Amino acid sequence: MNKTAVFYGVLVTIIVIALIISSDLNKTPDLKPVFADSVTAQILSPDTSNTYGDNLKVLHGIHSRAQLLNVMRGFTEALGVKCEFCHNTDNFASDEKIQKRTAREMIHMVANIDENYLDGPRMEKVTCFTCHRGQSIPKLVVER
Ligand code: HEC
Ligand code: HEC
Repeated sequence: MNKTAVFYGVLVTIIVIALIISSDLNKTPDLKPVFADSVTAQILSPDTSNTYGDNLKVLHGIHSRAQLLNVMRGFTEALGVKCEFCHNTDNFASDEKIQKRTAREMIHMVANIDENYLDGPRMEKVTCFTCHRGQSIPKLVVER
């Protein structure tokens, strides 16, 4: 193989890699939530008891760690945050963080909307993701 062939070989490889990277960067973010339905299911659960969790005041129908974690993942997904945004991770039952207390208010709000305003058979339920879309403070569609 002569030097020119090697040069063009390397050049083509670089261009191909650059194209792959740029097409990846241009991809619109996937806005389809995975855990939002778990949040709705738990907020609207007719089961009023909990057998898992030490300090659950608004969620109900929670009977396993997996069930609770699916709801928590619904929160992190909707707000684009990690668990420590709302929790002291050494003590998840603690209410010391204002974000956790705000989240409870938000759960009440969503429950109220879903139970009292969106109870028709074809109505799409509201969840945290409806407003938050991956941001802890929902952004306006048109910036002021
Ligand atoms: C947006 C805020 C928020 C985020 C983010 C969040 N949580 Fe929670 N978490 C809460 C709220 C609110 C409660 C209490 C619900 C209630 O009172 O019914 C809770 C309760 C819990 C509990 C039950 C504690 C107990 O025994 O009472 C655990 C465990 C927990 N979360 C784990 C997690 C994990 C793990 C993550 C990350 C994957 C996470 N949370 C992310 C708001 C959040
Ligand atoms: C109707 C729209 C709407 C829905 C639905 C909604 N939120 Fe919010 N949320 C907001 C807005 C708007 C703010 C910002 C309020 C402000 O700026 O004071 C906010 C703020 C918050 C905050 C405080 C963030 C911070 O940085 O202080 C938390 C935590 C939160 N929401 C959690 C939730 C959770 C959990 C759910 C689902 C149970 C939810 N929200 C559903 C509109 C919504």
